[in-house]
Amino acid sequence: MVFVEIESAAPLILSSSTTSSSIKQMPGTAFVAPVAAGHSYYDGSEKATSKALISNALARRISSINIDNCEAGGEDAFFVADLGEVYRQHLRWKLNLPRIEPFYAVKCNPDPQVLRLLANLGCGFDCASKKEIESVLSMDISPSRIIYAHPCKTASFIRYAASEGVEHMTFDNAEELYKCQRYFPSARLLLRIATDDSKALCRLSVKYGAPLDSTASLLALAKDLGLNVVGVSFHVGSGTYDPTAYISAVEDARHVFDEGADLGFDMKLLDVGGGYGHKNFEAIASVLGPAVDQYFPSNVRVIAEPGRYYVASAFTVAAHVIARRTVVDPLTGESSFMLYLNDGVYGNFSGVMFDHQTPIPKVLTNRDGFWYGKKREDGERVVKYSIWGPTCDGLDCISSESYLPEVVEVGDWLYFSEMGAYSKCSATKFNGFSDDHEIIYVSSEPGAAALLQG
Ligand SMILES: Cc1ncc(COP(=O)(O)O)c(C=O)c1O
Repeated sequence: MVFVEIESAAPLILSSSTTSSSIKQMPGTAFVAPVAAGHSYYDGSEKATSKALISNALARRISSINIDNCEAGGEDAFFVADLGEVYRQHLRWKLNLPRIEPFYAVKCNPDPQVLRLLANLGCGFDCASKKEIESVLSMDISPSRIIYAHPCKTASFIRYAASEGVEHMTFDNAEELYKCQRYFPSARLLLRIATDDSKALCRLSVKYGAPLDSTASLLALAKDLGLNVVGVSFHVGSGTYDPTAYISAVEDARHVFDEGADLGFDMKLLDVGGGYGHKNFEAIASVLGPAVDQYFPSNVRVIAEPGRYYVASAFTVAAHVIARRTVVDPLTGESSFMLYLNDGVYGNFSGVMFDHQTPIPKVLTNRDGFWYGKKREDGERVVKYSIWGPTCDGLDCISSESYLPEVVEVGDWLYFSEMGAYSKCSATKFNGFSDDHEIIYVSSEPGAAALLQG
Protein backbone atom coordinates (compact mmCIF):
# COMPACT_ATOMS: atom_id res chain seq x y z
CA MET A 1 0.00 0.00 0.00
CA VAL A 2 1.42 3.37 -1.00
CA PHE A 3 0.96 6.36 1.23
CA VAL A 4 0.69 9.83 -0.18
CA GLU A 5 0.95 12.97 1.84
CA ILE A 6 -1.88 15.21 0.76
CA GLU A 7 -1.78 17.98 3.31
CA SER A 8 1.13 19.60 5.06
CA ALA A 9 -0.64 20.64 8.25
CA ALA A 10 0.82 19.12 11.42
CA PRO A 11 -1.88 16.45 11.56
CA LEU A 12 -0.76 14.59 8.45
CA ILE A 13 -3.22 13.19 5.96
CA LEU A 14 -2.53 9.81 4.46
CA SER A 15 -4.35 8.10 1.68
CA SER A 16 -4.27 4.52 0.50
CA SER A 17 -6.52 5.14 -2.42
CA THR A 18 -5.60 4.50 -5.99
CA THR A 19 -6.91 7.97 -6.74
CA SER A 20 -4.79 9.61 -4.08
CA SER A 21 -2.64 11.41 -6.60
CA SER A 22 -5.73 12.98 -8.13
CA ILE A 23 -6.76 14.08 -4.66
CA LYS A 24 -3.35 15.66 -4.22
CA GLN A 25 -3.88 17.73 -7.33
CA MET A 26 -7.31 18.99 -6.34
CA PRO A 27 -7.51 22.73 -5.84
CA GLY A 28 -8.30 23.89 -2.31
CA THR A 29 -11.96 23.77 -1.45
CA ALA A 30 -14.07 26.71 -0.41
CA PHE A 31 -16.07 24.49 1.90
CA VAL A 32 -15.95 25.58 5.51
CA ALA A 33 -15.01 23.07 8.20
CA PRO A 34 -17.33 23.19 11.19
CA VAL A 35 -16.35 23.37 14.83
CA ALA A 36 -17.05 20.11 16.62
CA ALA A 37 -18.56 19.42 20.00
CA GLY A 38 -16.24 18.83 22.93
CA HIS A 39 -14.64 15.51 23.79
CA SER A 40 -14.92 13.96 27.22
CA TYR A 41 -11.23 13.13 27.38
CA TYR A 42 -9.35 15.87 25.51
CA ASP A 43 -10.18 19.56 25.58
CA GLY A 44 -12.27 19.56 22.41
CA SER A 45 -9.78 21.06 19.98
CA GLU A 46 -8.74 17.62 18.73
CA LYS A 47 -12.35 16.95 17.73
CA ALA A 48 -12.46 20.17 15.75
CA THR A 49 -9.22 19.16 14.03
CA SER A 50 -10.67 15.76 13.26
CA LYS A 51 -13.86 17.20 11.82
CA ALA A 52 -11.92 19.67 9.72
CA LEU A 53 -9.71 16.94 8.26
CA ILE A 54 -12.66 14.66 7.54
CA SER A 55 -14.56 17.56 6.02
CA ASN A 56 -11.67 18.44 3.71
CA ALA A 57 -11.15 14.83 2.67
CA LEU A 58 -14.83 14.38 1.86
CA ALA A 59 -14.98 17.64 -0.04
CA ARG A 60 -11.87 16.95 -2.08
CA ARG A 61 -12.94 13.45 -2.99
CA ILE A 62 -16.42 14.50 -4.03
CA SER A 63 -15.33 17.50 -5.98
CA SER A 64 -12.95 15.25 -7.92
CA ILE A 65 -15.89 13.24 -9.28
CA ASN A 66 -17.78 14.34 -12.33
CA ILE A 67 -20.85 12.12 -12.45
CA ASP A 68 -21.46 13.00 -16.11
CA ASN A 69 -18.22 11.45 -17.33
CA CYS A 70 -16.61 9.39 -14.56
CA GLU A 71 -15.96 5.74 -15.29
CA ALA A 72 -18.59 3.23 -14.14
CA GLY A 73 -18.38 3.07 -10.35
CA GLY A 74 -16.33 6.27 -10.17
CA GLU A 75 -18.96 7.67 -7.81
CA ASP A 76 -18.86 4.62 -5.52
CA ALA A 77 -19.29 5.07 -1.79
CA PHE A 78 -16.05 5.69 0.12
CA PHE A 79 -14.75 6.02 3.66
CA VAL A 80 -12.75 8.66 5.45
CA ALA A 81 -10.91 7.20 8.45
CA ASP A 82 -9.36 9.41 11.12
CA LEU A 83 -6.61 7.27 12.63
CA GLY A 84 -6.10 9.97 15.25
CA GLU A 85 -9.40 8.86 16.74
CA VAL A 86 -8.09 5.28 17.10
CA TYR A 87 -4.98 6.70 18.77
CA ARG A 88 -7.06 8.75 21.22
CA GLN A 89 -9.16 5.70 22.08
CA HIS A 90 -5.96 3.87 22.95
CA LEU A 91 -4.80 6.65 25.30
CA ARG A 92 -8.26 6.67 26.85
CA TRP A 93 -7.98 2.93 27.45
CA LYS A 94 -4.56 3.23 29.05
CA LEU A 95 -5.74 6.05 31.28
CA ASN A 96 -8.83 4.24 32.54
CA LEU A 97 -7.76 0.59 32.58
CA PRO A 98 -3.99 0.70 33.06
CA ARG A 99 -3.78 -2.89 34.33
CA ILE A 100 -5.69 -4.42 31.40
CA GLU A 101 -3.78 -5.00 28.14
CA PRO A 102 -5.94 -4.50 25.03
CA PHE A 103 -5.85 -7.26 22.40
CA TYR A 104 -7.76 -5.62 19.53
CA ALA A 105 -10.52 -7.85 18.09
CA VAL A 106 -9.45 -7.97 14.43
CA LYS A 107 -12.86 -9.23 13.27
CA CYS A 108 -14.40 -5.86 14.02
CA ASN A 109 -12.43 -4.03 11.36
CA PRO A 110 -9.29 -5.62 9.92
CA ASP A 111 -8.24 -2.43 8.17
CA PRO A 112 -4.47 -2.68 7.61
CA GLN A 113 -3.72 0.86 8.80
CA VAL A 114 -5.74 0.35 11.98
CA LEU A 115 -3.83 -2.88 12.61
CA ARG A 116 -0.50 -1.17 11.92
CA LEU A 117 -1.26 1.72 14.24
CA LEU A 118 -2.41 -0.56 17.05
CA ALA A 119 0.62 -2.79 16.56
CA ASN A 120 2.90 0.24 16.85
CA LEU A 121 1.03 1.33 19.96
CA GLY A 122 1.86 -2.02 21.55
CA CYS A 123 -1.57 -3.66 21.42
CA GLY A 124 -2.07 -7.39 21.20
CA PHE A 125 -4.60 -8.95 18.82
CA ASP A 126 -7.61 -11.22 19.22
CA CYS A 127 -7.85 -13.38 16.08
CA ALA A 128 -10.64 -15.77 15.16
CA SER A 129 -9.31 -17.45 12.01
CA LYS A 130 -6.20 -18.36 10.05
CA LYS A 131 -6.60 -15.27 7.86
CA GLU A 132 -6.74 -12.94 10.84
CA ILE A 133 -3.68 -14.57 12.41
CA GLU A 134 -1.86 -14.29 9.08
CA SER A 135 -2.62 -10.61 8.69
CA VAL A 136 -1.27 -9.86 12.17
CA LEU A 137 1.84 -12.02 11.75
CA SER A 138 2.52 -10.34 8.40
CA MET A 139 3.26 -7.15 10.35
CA ASP A 140 6.17 -8.91 12.07
CA ILE A 141 4.21 -9.14 15.30
CA SER A 142 5.35 -11.79 17.76
CA PRO A 143 2.87 -14.70 18.00
CA SER A 144 2.88 -14.09 21.76
CA ARG A 145 0.87 -10.91 21.05
CA ILE A 146 -1.98 -12.95 19.56
CA ILE A 147 -4.78 -14.83 21.26
CA TYR A 148 -6.70 -17.23 19.05
CA ALA A 149 -9.96 -16.42 20.81
CA HIS A 150 -12.34 -18.89 19.23
CA PRO A 151 -13.72 -21.71 21.38
CA CYS A 152 -14.73 -23.88 18.38
CA LYS A 153 -11.81 -23.93 15.98
CA THR A 154 -11.22 -25.63 12.64
CA ALA A 155 -8.68 -28.46 13.11
CA SER A 156 -6.40 -27.25 10.30
CA PHE A 157 -6.42 -23.75 11.80
CA ILE A 158 -5.23 -25.19 15.13
CA ARG A 159 -2.38 -26.89 13.27
CA TYR A 160 -1.60 -23.58 11.59
CA ALA A 161 -1.57 -21.76 14.95
CA ALA A 162 0.75 -24.45 16.34
CA SER A 163 3.11 -24.10 13.38
CA GLU A 164 3.25 -20.32 13.85
CA GLY A 165 3.68 -20.48 17.64
CA VAL A 166 0.34 -18.82 18.46
CA GLU A 167 -0.01 -20.55 21.80
CA HIS A 168 -2.90 -18.83 23.52
CA MET A 169 -6.33 -20.11 22.55
CA THR A 170 -9.76 -20.50 24.12
CA PHE A 171 -12.04 -23.53 24.56
CA ASP A 172 -15.46 -24.08 26.09
CA ASN A 173 -16.33 -27.73 25.43
CA ALA A 174 -14.92 -31.25 25.75
CA GLU A 175 -14.55 -31.92 22.00
CA GLU A 176 -12.35 -28.88 21.64
CA LEU A 177 -10.04 -30.27 24.31
CA TYR A 178 -9.65 -33.53 22.36
CA LYS A 179 -8.85 -31.50 19.23
CA CYS A 180 -6.28 -29.43 21.12
CA GLN A 181 -4.66 -32.57 22.51
CA ARG A 182 -4.40 -34.03 19.01
CA TYR A 183 -3.15 -30.95 17.16
CA PHE A 184 -1.53 -28.63 19.72
CA PRO A 185 -1.03 -30.34 23.07
CA SER A 186 1.32 -27.66 24.39
CA ALA A 187 -1.15 -24.81 23.70
CA ARG A 188 -1.83 -22.37 26.55
CA LEU A 189 -5.57 -22.69 26.98
CA LEU A 190 -8.15 -20.30 28.42
CA LEU A 191 -11.53 -21.63 29.45
CA ARG A 192 -14.21 -19.31 28.09
CA ILE A 193 -17.16 -19.09 30.44
CA ALA A 194 -20.73 -18.06 29.64
CA THR A 195 -21.98 -14.71 30.93
CA ASP A 196 -25.29 -12.99 31.47
CA ASP A 197 -25.33 -11.01 28.21
CA SER A 198 -29.04 -10.26 28.24
CA LYS A 199 -28.29 -6.53 28.28
CA ALA A 200 -26.05 -6.50 25.21
CA LEU A 201 -26.77 -5.48 21.63
CA CYS A 202 -25.30 -8.72 20.28
CA ARG A 203 -25.55 -11.75 22.55
CA LEU A 204 -22.64 -14.14 22.30
CA SER A 205 -23.20 -16.53 25.21
CA VAL A 206 -26.10 -18.10 23.31
CA LYS A 207 -23.37 -19.66 21.17
CA TYR A 208 -20.14 -19.73 23.17
CA GLY A 209 -19.03 -20.04 26.77
CA ALA A 210 -19.12 -22.93 29.22
CA PRO A 211 -21.89 -22.74 31.83
CA LEU A 212 -20.48 -22.55 35.35
CA ASP A 213 -21.85 -25.99 36.25
CA SER A 214 -19.63 -27.54 33.53
CA THR A 215 -16.32 -25.81 34.21
CA ALA A 216 -15.04 -28.20 36.91
CA SER A 217 -15.54 -31.27 34.71
CA LEU A 218 -13.94 -29.52 31.70
CA LEU A 219 -10.91 -28.64 33.80
CA ALA A 220 -10.73 -32.23 35.09
CA LEU A 221 -10.81 -33.51 31.50
CA ALA A 222 -8.07 -31.06 30.49
CA LYS A 223 -6.00 -32.39 33.38
CA ASP A 224 -6.58 -36.00 32.30
CA LEU A 225 -5.54 -35.12 28.74
CA GLY A 226 -2.34 -33.49 29.99
CA LEU A 227 -3.32 -30.05 28.68
CA ASN A 228 -2.17 -26.71 30.01
CA VAL A 229 -5.02 -24.43 31.12
CA VAL A 230 -3.52 -21.04 31.94
CA GLY A 231 -6.58 -18.91 32.50
CA VAL A 232 -10.19 -17.91 31.94
CA SER A 233 -11.88 -15.69 29.36
CA PHE A 234 -15.36 -14.24 28.97
CA HIS A 235 -17.33 -11.86 26.79
CA VAL A 236 -20.31 -10.01 28.24
CA GLY A 237 -21.85 -9.46 24.79
CA SER A 238 -20.95 -6.99 22.08
CA GLY A 239 -22.26 -3.49 22.67
CA THR A 240 -23.27 -4.13 26.27
CA TYR A 241 -25.25 -1.46 28.04
CA ASP A 242 -24.89 -2.97 31.50
CA PRO A 243 -21.46 -2.28 33.06
CA THR A 244 -22.31 -4.52 36.05
CA ALA A 245 -22.23 -7.55 33.72
CA TYR A 246 -18.43 -7.29 33.96
CA ILE A 247 -18.52 -7.55 37.77
CA SER A 248 -20.51 -10.81 37.73
CA ALA A 249 -18.26 -12.22 35.03
CA VAL A 250 -15.10 -11.36 36.99
CA GLU A 251 -16.59 -13.06 40.07
CA ASP A 252 -17.40 -16.15 38.01
CA ALA A 253 -13.87 -16.15 36.56
CA ARG A 254 -12.47 -16.10 40.10
CA HIS A 255 -14.59 -19.15 40.92
CA VAL A 256 -13.15 -21.01 37.91
CA PHE A 257 -9.60 -19.97 38.83
CA ASP A 258 -10.21 -21.58 42.23
CA GLU A 259 -11.55 -24.75 40.60
CA GLY A 260 -8.42 -24.84 38.45
CA ALA A 261 -6.15 -24.38 41.46
CA ASP A 262 -7.86 -27.33 43.19
CA LEU A 263 -6.84 -29.47 40.20
CA GLY A 264 -3.28 -28.18 40.25
CA PHE A 265 -3.48 -25.69 37.36
CA ASP A 266 -1.37 -22.58 37.78
CA MET A 267 -3.69 -20.05 36.16
CA LYS A 268 -2.21 -16.60 35.66
CA LEU A 269 -4.21 -15.10 32.76
CA LEU A 270 -7.63 -13.45 32.84
CA ASP A 271 -9.22 -12.27 29.57
CA VAL A 272 -12.09 -9.86 30.13
CA GLY A 273 -13.25 -9.90 26.50
CA GLY A 274 -14.91 -7.13 24.50
CA GLY A 275 -18.18 -5.23 24.61
CA TYR A 276 -16.85 -1.74 25.43
CA GLY A 277 -18.62 1.18 23.79
CA HIS A 278 -17.54 4.72 23.03
CA LYS A 279 -20.19 6.24 25.27
CA ASN A 280 -20.11 3.87 28.26
CA PHE A 281 -16.40 3.15 28.42
CA GLU A 282 -15.65 5.17 31.56
CA ALA A 283 -18.72 3.66 33.26
CA ILE A 284 -17.46 0.16 32.46
CA ALA A 285 -13.87 0.95 33.45
CA SER A 286 -14.99 2.37 36.79
CA VAL A 287 -16.47 -1.00 37.80
CA LEU A 288 -14.26 -3.41 35.86
CA GLY A 289 -10.90 -2.07 37.06
CA PRO A 290 -11.79 -2.31 40.78
CA ALA A 291 -13.45 -5.73 40.32
CA VAL A 292 -10.32 -7.13 38.70
CA ASP A 293 -8.15 -5.71 41.50
CA GLN A 294 -10.50 -7.07 44.15
CA TYR A 295 -10.59 -10.64 42.83
CA PHE A 296 -7.20 -11.10 41.18
CA PRO A 297 -3.77 -10.47 42.71
CA SER A 298 -1.24 -8.46 40.74
CA ASN A 299 0.61 -11.57 39.53
CA VAL A 300 -2.39 -12.41 37.33
CA ARG A 301 -2.03 -10.87 33.89
CA VAL A 302 -5.24 -9.31 32.61
CA ILE A 303 -6.01 -8.80 28.92
CA ALA A 304 -9.15 -7.71 27.02
CA GLU A 305 -10.49 -8.03 23.47
CA PRO A 306 -12.01 -4.64 22.59
CA GLY A 307 -13.26 -4.27 19.04
CA ARG A 308 -15.87 -1.60 18.35
CA TYR A 309 -14.45 0.63 21.11
CA TYR A 310 -11.34 1.31 19.03
CA VAL A 311 -12.77 1.90 15.59
CA ALA A 312 -16.48 2.73 15.54
CA SER A 313 -16.08 6.50 15.76
CA ALA A 314 -13.05 6.69 13.47
CA PHE A 315 -14.76 5.92 10.16
CA THR A 316 -17.24 8.01 8.14
CA VAL A 317 -18.84 6.71 4.97
CA ALA A 318 -20.12 8.84 2.11
CA ALA A 319 -22.66 7.38 -0.33
CA HIS A 320 -24.13 8.73 -3.52
CA VAL A 321 -27.87 9.17 -4.13
CA ILE A 322 -28.48 7.15 -7.28
CA ALA A 323 -32.27 7.33 -7.42
CA ARG A 324 -35.31 8.84 -5.72
CA ARG A 325 -38.97 7.92 -5.69
CA THR A 326 -41.73 10.20 -4.46
CA VAL A 327 -44.44 8.60 -2.34
CA VAL A 328 -47.69 10.52 -1.87
CA ASP A 329 -49.82 9.65 1.15
CA PRO A 330 -53.32 9.03 -0.28
CA LEU A 331 -54.99 10.37 2.88
CA THR A 332 -52.98 13.49 3.65
CA GLY A 333 -51.60 14.19 0.19
CA GLU A 334 -48.18 14.71 1.79
CA SER A 335 -45.04 13.60 -0.01
CA SER A 336 -42.21 11.57 1.39
CA PHE A 337 -39.30 10.08 -0.52
CA MET A 338 -37.52 6.80 -1.02
CA LEU A 339 -33.82 7.42 -1.56
CA TYR A 340 -31.63 4.79 -3.20
CA LEU A 341 -27.90 4.91 -2.41
CA ASN A 342 -25.00 3.09 -4.04
CA ASP A 343 -24.21 1.35 -0.72
CA GLY A 344 -26.52 -0.71 1.45
CA VAL A 345 -26.95 -3.57 3.89
CA TYR A 346 -25.22 -5.99 1.51
CA GLY A 347 -22.32 -3.52 1.53
CA ASN A 348 -20.89 -1.29 4.24
CA PHE A 349 -24.22 -1.12 6.06
CA SER A 350 -24.07 -4.84 6.77
CA GLY A 351 -24.13 -3.90 10.46
CA VAL A 352 -27.85 -3.19 10.07
CA MET A 353 -28.35 -6.93 9.58
CA PHE A 354 -25.52 -8.36 11.68
CA ASP A 355 -24.92 -5.79 14.39
CA HIS A 356 -28.32 -4.19 15.10
CA GLN A 357 -26.99 -0.89 13.79
CA THR A 358 -29.27 2.06 13.03
CA PRO A 359 -27.14 4.32 10.82
CA ILE A 360 -28.05 8.00 10.88
CA PRO A 361 -28.01 9.64 7.45
CA LYS A 362 -26.92 13.23 7.08
CA VAL A 363 -26.83 15.40 3.99
CA LEU A 364 -23.29 15.86 2.70
CA THR A 365 -23.94 17.70 -0.55
CA ASN A 366 -27.15 19.14 -1.85
CA ARG A 367 -27.18 21.17 -5.05
CA ASP A 368 -24.18 23.49 -4.55
CA GLY A 369 -24.06 23.21 -0.76
CA PHE A 370 -21.68 21.18 1.39
CA TRP A 371 -23.25 20.37 4.71
CA TYR A 372 -20.79 18.18 6.61
CA GLY A 373 -21.13 18.82 10.35
CA LYS A 374 -23.78 21.48 9.90
CA LYS A 375 -26.11 21.75 12.87
CA ARG A 376 -29.83 21.92 12.23
CA GLU A 377 -31.57 25.17 12.98
CA ASP A 378 -34.39 24.98 15.52
CA GLY A 379 -37.72 24.72 13.75
CA GLU A 380 -36.09 23.89 10.42
CA ARG A 381 -38.47 22.09 8.06
CA VAL A 382 -37.62 18.39 7.71
CA VAL A 383 -38.58 15.92 5.03
CA LYS A 384 -39.33 12.23 5.59
CA TYR A 385 -37.27 9.60 3.81
CA SER A 386 -36.66 5.91 3.74
CA ILE A 387 -33.10 5.05 2.69
CA TRP A 388 -32.37 2.01 0.52
CA GLY A 389 -29.32 0.22 -0.82
CA PRO A 390 -28.65 -0.55 -4.49
CA THR A 391 -29.45 -4.28 -4.65
CA CYS A 392 -32.67 -5.80 -5.87
CA ASP A 393 -33.57 -7.13 -2.43
CA GLY A 394 -36.38 -5.52 -0.43
CA LEU A 395 -34.40 -6.27 2.73
CA ASP A 396 -31.74 -3.85 1.56
CA CYS A 397 -33.07 -0.96 3.65
CA ILE A 398 -30.62 1.22 5.60
CA SER A 399 -33.29 3.23 7.37
CA SER A 400 -37.07 2.86 7.14
CA GLU A 401 -37.69 6.34 8.52
CA SER A 402 -35.28 9.25 8.57
CA TYR A 403 -35.76 12.98 8.51
CA LEU A 404 -33.45 15.28 6.61
CA PRO A 405 -33.63 19.03 6.40
CA GLU A 406 -33.25 19.23 2.66
CA VAL A 407 -35.03 17.95 -0.39
CA VAL A 408 -32.31 15.53 -1.39
CA GLU A 409 -31.85 15.00 -5.08
CA VAL A 410 -30.36 12.35 -7.33
CA GLY A 411 -26.64 13.09 -7.54
CA ASP A 412 -26.41 14.42 -3.97
CA TRP A 413 -24.29 12.69 -1.33
CA LEU A 414 -25.20 11.53 2.16
CA TYR A 415 -22.76 10.70 4.93
CA PHE A 416 -22.91 8.47 7.98
CA SER A 417 -20.56 8.84 10.96
CA GLU A 418 -19.57 6.07 13.41
CA MET A 419 -19.19 3.51 10.64
CA GLY A 420 -15.93 1.84 11.71
CA ALA A 421 -17.21 -1.29 13.45
CA TYR A 422 -18.72 -4.37 11.81
CA SER A 423 -19.32 -2.53 8.52
CA LYS A 424 -16.84 -3.01 5.65
CA CYS A 425 -15.63 -6.31 7.11
CA SER A 426 -18.98 -8.01 6.53
CA ALA A 427 -19.82 -6.39 3.17
CA THR A 428 -20.66 -8.71 0.27
CA LYS A 429 -20.48 -8.53 -3.53
CA PHE A 430 -24.19 -9.37 -3.88
CA ASN A 431 -25.66 -8.26 -7.20
CA GLY A 432 -22.17 -7.50 -8.45
CA PHE A 433 -21.70 -4.41 -6.30
CA SER A 434 -18.26 -3.74 -4.83
CA ASP A 435 -17.30 -4.90 -1.35
CA ASP A 436 -14.02 -3.02 -1.50
CA HIS A 437 -14.57 0.68 -1.12
CA GLU A 438 -11.86 3.26 -1.05
CA ILE A 439 -10.63 4.52 2.30
CA ILE A 440 -9.05 7.95 2.64
CA TYR A 441 -6.97 8.11 5.80
CA VAL A 442 -6.46 11.27 7.79
CA SER A 443 -4.85 11.72 11.17
CA SER A 444 -5.92 14.34 13.68
CA GLU A 445 -3.11 13.21 15.99
CA PRO A 446 0.48 13.89 14.90
CA GLY A 447 1.51 10.96 17.13
CA ALA A 448 -0.59 8.54 15.12
CA ALA A 449 0.73 9.88 11.82
CA ALA A 450 4.31 9.55 13.08
CA LEU A 451 3.75 5.94 14.14
CA LEU A 452 2.29 5.12 10.74
CA GLN A 453 5.11 6.67 8.82
CA GLY A 454 7.91 5.12 10.85
C1 LIG B 1 -14.49 -13.53 21.16
C2 LIG B 1 -14.76 -12.08 20.86
N1 LIG B 1 -13.90 -11.17 21.36
C3 LIG B 1 -14.07 -9.85 21.13
C4 LIG B 1 -15.11 -9.40 20.35
C5 LIG B 1 -15.23 -7.92 20.11
O1 LIG B 1 -16.35 -7.41 20.75
P1 LIG B 1 -16.64 -5.86 20.76
O2 LIG B 1 -16.54 -5.36 19.38
O3 LIG B 1 -18.01 -5.74 21.31
O4 LIG B 1 -15.64 -5.23 21.69
C6 LIG B 1 -16.03 -10.31 19.81
C7 LIG B 1 -17.16 -9.86 19.01
O5 LIG B 1 -17.97 -10.60 18.51
C8 LIG B 1 -15.84 -11.69 20.08
O6 LIG B 1 -16.67 -12.62 19.58
